[in-house]
Amino acid sequence: MVRIILVQGDITAERVDAVVNAANSSLLGGGGVDGAIHRRGGPQILEACRALRASHYGKGLATGRAVATTAGLLPAEHVIHTVGPVYSREEDRSELLASCYRESLRVAAELGARTVAFPAISTGVYGWPMDDGARIALATVRSAAGGSVEEVRFVLFDAQAYAAFEAAYASGGA
Ligand code: APR
Repeated sequence: MVRIILVQGDITAERVDAVVNAANSSLLGGGGVDGAIHRRGGPQILEACRALRASHYGKGLATGRAVATTAGLLPAEHVIHTVGPVYSREEDRSELLASCYRESLRVAAELGARTVAFPAISTGVYGWPMDDGARIALATVRSAAGGSVEEVRFVLFDAQAYAAFEAAYASGGA
């Protein structure tokens, strides 16, 4: 059973084996978590992303998929880039959001990572309601096989996000 910890703060400061980036399919940076990771992680991360685009990911990284690069200057060892779904009222994309957490954990286990930090994927620019995003995040991590992963930290940027995850954590049982 993976240990789950909730943290309020900036994910780029986390001393974990792998930090998960809420990227977009271009893998070439953006705002929010993506911007913070590239800003603080330095150019090596973008260089590694460009190499991925030039090799296996010519069309970019598909929504729900995950791929790892160096963490550059971040205290973490790896960055796992995943592309969350944009929230839609017409279409239920919950499975794609769950896939971000599941695939990121699979990549983390392939790397032999023991500790992984996640942001609240899709709940920013991509507009996913925080409460539902928290519910999907916790349910998916709780049911995913951890492999080498022993600890997952959800790093929430503000008190409102933290409260939403706390509520989802409490309602999801032990
Ligand atoms: N540390 C932790 N959480 C953060 C940080 C940070 N430094 N910066 C933002 N957040 C929070 C946001 O408040 C939100 O709750 O992370 C969550 C995800 O928000 P976004 O970073 O906007 O990611 P997302 O909603 O998945 O949208 C992805 O935004 O930045 C672009 O390139 C990115 O196109 C992609 C899109």
